[in-house]
Amino acid sequence: MKDRPLNDPGAFWDEKFDGPDYRYGKKPNAFVAEVLPDLVEPEAKVLCVGDGEGRNGVWCARQGYETTSLEPSAVGTSKIKALAAEQGVELEVIQDRMPSDEIDEAAFDVVVLTYVHAPEPMRRQIHSACLRALRSGGVVVLEGFTPDQRRNDRTSGGPPKEELMFTAEILRDDFRGAHLELLSEMTVELAEGDGHRGPADVVRMIARKPAQ
Ligand SMILES: C[S@@+](CC[C@H](N)C(=O)[O-])C[C@H]1O[C@@H](n2cnc3c(N)ncnc32)[C@H](O)[C@@H]1O
Repeated sequence: MKDRPLNDPGAFWDEKFDGPDYRYGKKPNAFVAEVLPDLVEPEAKVLCVGDGEGRNGVWCARQGYETTSLEPSAVGTSKIKALAAEQGVELEVIQDRMPSDEIDEAAFDVVVLTYVHAPEPMRRQIHSACLRALRSGGVVVLEGFTPDQRRNDRTSGGPPKEELMFTAEILRDDFRGAHLELLSEMTVELAEGDGHRGPADVVRMIARKPAQ
């Protein structure tokens, strides 16, 4: 049972997302909303990986970005579609996990990856697939918890085990070959639904895929 999220993230997250509430709220992640408008053109093609209940994907579609939302949970994908309908926007929703055969390589200007935590080797595979999905010059925008989240006994969310989280050094290695325009560990105050609330130890990254 303890390996279920690793083997079947869709079923694991189905349970977490079941119910009317949006676990991380309906507003986008603050870092994503802050940096995307300055990073990309209004017509950019954006892929939100592990989009959960769609807070980032639906916000991206509202900005006018051509948005694809990829999420393994059936419950999550239903809620993404419901949120898009509620807010009157369209986006492509794919129920799958990364790496995904449904995702074209070199197709996207941006990959958004917030709080998608997985153990090795899955973590590296997800990160490599995100880089492959980008066109040359495209960017990955990532936020996630660092192991300090557990060491500091934070109650603002995240997986139970430190090894499921990542440091800036781990990301530097996973995204080697990309130009790291931002890579920073910090403590922030999260206010993202009931799932992420309070002081949190996170890492933020903007990684640009170099020209071939
Ligand atoms: C903590 S939730 C974050 C959801 C969303 N990114 C957000 O910030 O609101 C983690 C998400 O990662 C997704 N996930 C887990 N493994 C994945 C994989 N291999 N590929 C894509 N998504 C995955 C889960 O289904 C879940 O929706």
